[in-house]
Amino acid sequence: MTSPNKRKVVVVGVGSVGSTFAYALSQSGLTDEIVLIDKNEALVCGQVLDLAHGQPFFPAVEIRQGNAADYRDAQVIVITAGAAQQPGETRLQLLQKNAGIVRSIVDEVINENHCGVMLIVTNSAYHIIGYKGATCFAVCLALVRITRAILRGENSVLTVSTRLKGEFGFQNICLSVPCLVSRRGVERIIASNLGQGEMAALSASAAVLKQVIGQLESNS
Ligand SMILES: NC(=O)c1ccc[n+]([C@@H]2O[C@H](COP(=O)([O-])OP(=O)(O)OC[C@H]3O[C@@H](n4cnc5c(N)ncnc54)[C@H](O)[C@@H]3O)[C@@H](O)[C@H]2O)c1
Repeated sequence: MTSPNKRKVVVVGVGSVGSTFAYALSQSGLTDEIVLIDKNEALVCGQVLDLAHGQPFFPAVEIRQGNAADYRDAQVIVITAGAAQQPGETRLQLLQKNAGIVRSIVDEVINENHCGVMLIVTNSAYHIIGYKGATCFAVCLALVRITRAILRGENSVLTVSTRLKGEFGFQNICLSVPCLVSRRGVERIIASNLGQGEMAALSASAAVLKQVIGQLESNS
């Protein structure tokens, strides 16, 4: 087990996003230990070795391959695991597959860890995917920023997606809204007054998400 004062981050899924995040985090000096997990054993082994070869050039940090037991004493668990869309597969089928993957990882984390913060990377901006097939740089810088707020207990106001409980008039749906982020993750939502246009845009996002959640539930 890691010593209680060690800052430990576990990354689950080390494809484009997970590996870029691990790379960016390793440069940041924010953490003592970065543990990588992926169902593709060869990939995770290669990512660990690749990152470890750069260690003379960045702040001291232990980077290694891990398993579910590593969730236990991690301060932050970043889930970037997912499946890519297969030819002929609909978006709903892909969504069902990815919901299953995230659900099983979240269950494993909850079994092991009751105080760490989970960060789940969600869908990305399509126009970049259209150009290069994936996106990773901007999202990973955002992930490092959020991780910093958690590990340092910053009480920073960041826009992150979290479950709303009546704020902005929405219940039981996760939307990106300004939140106070600190050691326990989202400490509270900053429920400010939105303009008419902003409120309409938030309502439109909520409607799309509710429709997709409804489809997922009726197909599960
Ligand atoms: N918000 C954004 O800007 C943004 C940008 C890019 C990607 N994403 C999201 O991030 C996620 C990952 O994207 P990516 O491009 O890195 O995908 P990727 O296919 O490159 O990597 C996904 C990794 O997850 C692993 N994996 C799958 N199932 C697993 C499981 N059960 N346990 C452990 N590992 C598992 C795969 O082996 C693979 O290495 C996707 O959900 C994607 O939608 C968000």
